Amino acid sequence: MNPAIDFHSPIRQAVLPPRSSERFSLVPPTTADAGEMVRTHDGRVLSLRQIVPGDVAAMQRCFGRLSPEDIRRRFLHAMSELPAPMAQRMCRIDPTIETAFVLMDETVQPAEMRGVGRIYVDEAIDSAEFSVLVEQDWTRVGLGALLMQRLVDDCRRRGLAELWGYVLVENRPMLQLCQELGFTQRLMTDEPGTALISLKL
Ligand SMILES: CC(C)(COP(=O)(O)OP(=O)(O)OC[C@H]1O[C@@H](n2cnc3c(N)ncnc32)[C@H](O)[C@@H]1OP(=O)(O)O)[C@@H](O)C(=O)NCCC(=O)NCCS
Repeated sequence: MNPAIDFHSPIRQAVLPPRSSERFSLVPPTTADAGEMVRTHDGRVLSLRQIVPGDVAAMQRCFGRLSPEDIRRRFLHAMSELPAPMAQRMCRIDPTIETAFVLMDETVQPAEMRGVGRIYVDEAIDSAEFSVLVEQDWTRVGLGALLMQRLVDDCRRRGLAELWGYVLVENRPMLQLCQELGFTQRLMTDEPGTALISLKL
């Protein structure tokens, strides 16, 4: 027996860390907070905030306005619809490993989603995968760069080492945007037509 351990002395209570459900709010808020006002380069106003479960309908309407090309560039394959379970899953995130920001246009009723940027953390490799989307009529006014910058900031806050994502090589706008933000790119040999974009944090 290990002499250092006295089994007859009163048991000392080890202080355990709080359960994961108490460390973070796993249930995202059901109503949206007001968010942060964003004024685009051409003077339009949106609100930038975290995604909430109540965003499902706006997300599905946003998907319905996308061109087949934008859908393929965002999801890396063709999709004719965004099934409700998928939209629900995308709006009900687990904040321990996901962040999703939305850009909401509240000048219309109901409010419309004009952009989404999200990360999914892989704790095993200390990195996060990003995706970003800006609705066509709202592109070229700085919103893609804003969303990407917020995702980079969020990864730094989480202490991650790398932010990465897959981008089709024909997707010049996204490659250009990533290059401006300091990401590097390399072609995927096993996925022709796809580049791996990454930023060391
Ligand atoms: C790629 C995408 C996010 C860019 O969003 P955006 O809001 O237009 O980006 P920004 O206005 O912030 O542009 C930032 C820079 O990116 C580059 N860029 C953006 N769109 C471009 C285009 N059509 N052609 C060339 N460069 C472009 C420019 O350098 C631009 O800076 P500038 O406008 O000062 O020249 C948007 O086009 C999109 O959602 N595409 C479909 C989905 C997708 O491809 N997602 C990426 C894979 S997950």
